[in-house]
Amino acid sequence: TAKPRLYSGMQPSAESLQIGNYIGALLNWKQLQETHDAFFSIVDLHALTVAQDPALLAENTRRTAAQYIAAGIDPASSTLYVQSHVPAHAQLAWVLNTITGFGEASRMTQFKDKSARHGTDATTVGLFAYPMLMAADILLYNTEIVPVGEDQRQHVELTRDLATRFNSRFGDTFVVPEVDIVKETAKIYDLQNPTAKMSKSASSPAGVIWLLDEPSVTAKKIMRAVTDAEGGVVFDRENKPGVSNLLTMYSVLAGRSISELEDEYAGRGYGDLKKGLAEVVTGTFGPIRERVLELLDDPAELDRLLAHNAERASAVAEETLARAYDRVGL
Ligand code: ADP
Ligand code: NA
Repeated sequence: TAKPRLYSGMQPSAESLQIGNYIGALLNWKQLQETHDAFFSIVDLHALTVAQDPALLAENTRRTAAQYIAAGIDPASSTLYVQSHVPAHAQLAWVLNTITGFGEASRMTQFKDKSARHGTDATTVGLFAYPMLMAADILLYNTEIVPVGEDQRQHVELTRDLATRFNSRFGDTFVVPEVDIVKETAKIYDLQNPTAKMSKSASSPAGVIWLLDEPSVTAKKIMRAVTDAEGGVVFDRENKPGVSNLLTMYSVLAGRSISELEDEYAGRGYGDLKKGLAEVVTGTFGPIRERVLELLDDPAELDRLLAHNAERASAVAEETLARAYDRVGL
């Protein structure tokens, strides 16, 4: 067990993941699980920090798990589990709340942004406490490495501060994790508005490629993607954002360089490029979609697998929690 311990979480925030989640996160995790002892959590407690439809949240949690498995997270070698199945998360979060300064938590930029958007009355204490729950997630597993995007750096820095503070106040208890900022992987843009990031909560329905779209729907969306009147399959983010976006997806999913693709499509129209991309995307997502449907078709088996992985997670988490409780006199 010389592999470094890694932790990452994702919210069950939609019925389907979109292609940006696959390219920007999943492909990376798939690689990391080979070289790390990886814990991947579907963080449903975090999802509760904004209003949720209960039936939908339960359904999206299971669907998110199925998509991660189908896309290549191996639940036998990685510990893929649902956060609320392991009570230690909420328990340790409470202890961490008690050593976090109110001012310190108030300075978290994600909280400031989200609470400004929601307004004071719709902003919950849960949203305020989000970073301390995330710190508990990480610290429970003696995590050495947390691969996150730049937007999560401040939360991992807080986690480091809390671990260090706890250790010096109560005695050595937590591993202080390293922030591993995932270098900006390919960013994917909305097909209809190629200067805006593609997102699960995107405004244009035709602009998002969902992992669970039927292949014919995906192909249609790609064929209708916004390009430009200039012609010429050339990567130029500034002047040709639509074509550049198509080339980025093509390059990542086909494992071919952009310049190789530019050569292949030199002197040809955008229709050809789109057809080629549609084949690559449906070739990748088609089998994943089939596998997801299979997994969802047997919810008892999926639940059994998640329960089994939650037990594996609990075994590690309970030990850390017991140590922390003991240190503070509980
Ligand atoms: P969404 O905007 O779809 O709700 P999240 O903000 O929940 O996505 O991010 C989940 C993961 O997917 C993050 O690691 C994020 O960097 C990645 N991701 C999301 N959208 C994109 C995108 N358009 N391009 C690249 N990566 C993305
Ligand atoms: Na998220």
